[in-house]
Amino acid sequence: MLHNQKESNKALKLGIGTNKVGGHNLFEGLQDEDGFDIVREALDSKVQMIDTAYMYGLGRSEEIIGEVLKKYPRSSFKIATKAAQDPDNDLKINNTPTFLKKAVDDALARLQTDYIDIFYIHFPDENTPKDEAVAALNDLKKSGKIRAVGVSNFSLEQIKEANKNGQVDYVEDAYSLVHREAENKLWPYLQENHIGFVPYFPLASGLLTGKYSLADADKFDQFTKEQFETIISALKLVEKIAENHNASISQTILAWYIANPSISAVIPGARNASQVTNNVATLNIDLTETEYQQIDTAFENF
Ligand SMILES: NC(=O)c1ccc[n+]([C@@H]2O[C@H](COP(=O)([O-])OP(=O)(O)OC[C@H]3O[C@@H](n4cnc5c(N)ncnc54)[C@H](OP(=O)(O)O)[C@@H]3O)[C@@H](O)[C@H]2O)c1
Repeated sequence: MLHNQKESNKALKLGIGTNKVGGHNLFEGLQDEDGFDIVREALDSKVQMIDTAYMYGLGRSEEIIGEVLKKYPRSSFKIATKAAQDPDNDLKINNTPTFLKKAVDDALARLQTDYIDIFYIHFPDENTPKDEAVAALNDLKKSGKIRAVGVSNFSLEQIKEANKNGQVDYVEDAYSLVHREAENKLWPYLQENHIGFVPYFPLASGLLTGKYSLADADKFDQFTKEQFETIISALKLVEKIAENHNASISQTILAWYIANPSISAVIPGARNASQVTNNVATLNIDLTETEYQQIDTAFENF
């Protein structure tokens, strides 16, 4: 499986996020054909982890992935998917064992596969005891339908409750160089309990690709003006490091996550196949220890 210690095989740590594969309910102007191309490009480039969810297109993302992956050896990549939004109850969040067991069966059918490598509870509901929800997934792990149990968007307290019996394998939560709260909030507990961490929004929804400038501050209103200026100047430093490797800013940022031993897998999203090609090239980069530290320091206030 994925590791939460330093991974010697970098390729095992690079995946793709697929909320723009079939995610018509989340983003405007998506074409299914781009979604098929994204998944094909990822598998042709030997990407080893595909992260999806029922919520991306209400099953459409999983269907597109399922159509493509039939043509590739199943053992050559891992699939992570998630559920919690109940299609039979206005997408209300549901973590009950009955719901989760059905959600896994439905996802397996859409993905046209007989196992899911990581199945995450996408969001916590209000009422289900978290250890009971996770125990239901653990039963499916024993039966072979899933290979690892994950939770996503859980607070530390909810993760602890879910992991009461040591049954949580992975946590997926928001994290990037400009959203580093998880480092103090979650990582100590996760590491102590050998739980892997998969960050979402690693490129801060495109901000960390370097394609935005100070003029775009209003597109990222979660940051103050000062924070946004710090990010843009930190990206200038990343650009210099990138030049040492004939690489782009986004490739260098992704290489930083891959080198970070606390991160199990990096799943940058993509709008089209060429972004996948671009992001996969990050595997050609080996940051020096000094470069790694320089990037760490440039974003230390986030
Ligand atoms: N568990 C959860 O609740 C949760 C929540 C959110 C996401 N996720 C997962 O995490 C994955 C990653 O998050 P994300 O996709 O939202 O954000 P992200 O990885 O931070 O950003 C991805 C976006 O950046 C842009 N981009 C990517 N590569 C690029 C490149 N080489 N050059 C220029 N632009 C590039 C694309 O958007 P544009 O072209 O539009 O700029 C792409 O859609 C998702 O796909 C999904 O699988 C999980």
